[in-house]
Amino acid sequence: MSIPRHIAIVMDGNGRWAQRRHLPRKLGHREGQKAVRATVEHCRQRGVAALTLFAFSSENWQRPGDEVHALMQLFVKALDSEVDELHRNGVRLTFIGDLDRFDAELSARMRAAMARTAGNDALRLNVAVNYGGRWDIAQAARGIAGAAMRGEIALDAIDELTLAPWLCLADQVPIDLFIRTGGELRVSNFLLWQLAYAELYFTDTLWPDFDAAALDAAIDAFAQRERRYGHTSAQLRATG
Ligand code: FPP
Repeated sequence: MSIPRHIAIVMDGNGRWAQRRHLPRKLGHREGQKAVRATVEHCRQRGVAALTLFAFSSENWQRPGDEVHALMQLFVKALDSEVDELHRNGVRLTFIGDLDRFDAELSARMRAAMARTAGNDALRLNVAVNYGGRWDIAQAARGIAGAAMRGEIALDAIDELTLAPWLCLADQVPIDLFIRTGGELRVSNFLLWQLAYAELYFTDTLWPDFDAAALDAAIDAFAQRERRYGHTSAQLRATG
């Protein structure tokens, strides 16, 4: 059976999970953290190489102040409580996004967790914080424009192949499977460039209810897909 090497997830539905139980939304995010833990562990067990989670988008700053504050506190606590175990399990943690917008202490902790786990290779766990797909493409464009101004690359040489290394996750295997929980059918400015050939999978399950069986269902659906990359089915059969 074909296992996706890299899975990216929009973890949607924490707020609704809490509201349905007449609980404050922040309790939904706390419950969501448990689903993160279970998903990381299950990916590791199933031999997935990389998992990228959308934890906080560039647009999430617009939420009510107390919800943003609760999410920041959750991230700080999660860094304190989870990093030891991730490290013990050989997980390499990377944050992608514009980390400078966070307060200095939180961004320093994120950088410290990345440095601490940098030598691990059991699973790459990428957590997108203050991330947006358009931001990513813009920062890549800024990077390559700087290289062009320094004379390191000719303007004519800028194409898909030379721009790609400037984007987040360029050092990792391509995304095979995109999952969005919570019933919405959109990509919401997640990895716009990197999802070009990902298989898309949507489920009504709310993120706090997403467990090992739900992840297995997504992986099973992925295994049924025919990935053609612009070719025809007949061409794929001919080349095996
Ligand atoms: C979307 O649900 C979820 C978020 C904006 C936050 C995701 C954060 C976590 C799962 C917390 C733990 C994460 C880490 C990495 C420690 P929503 O609030 O938009 O839900 P709704 O659509 O039901 O309102």
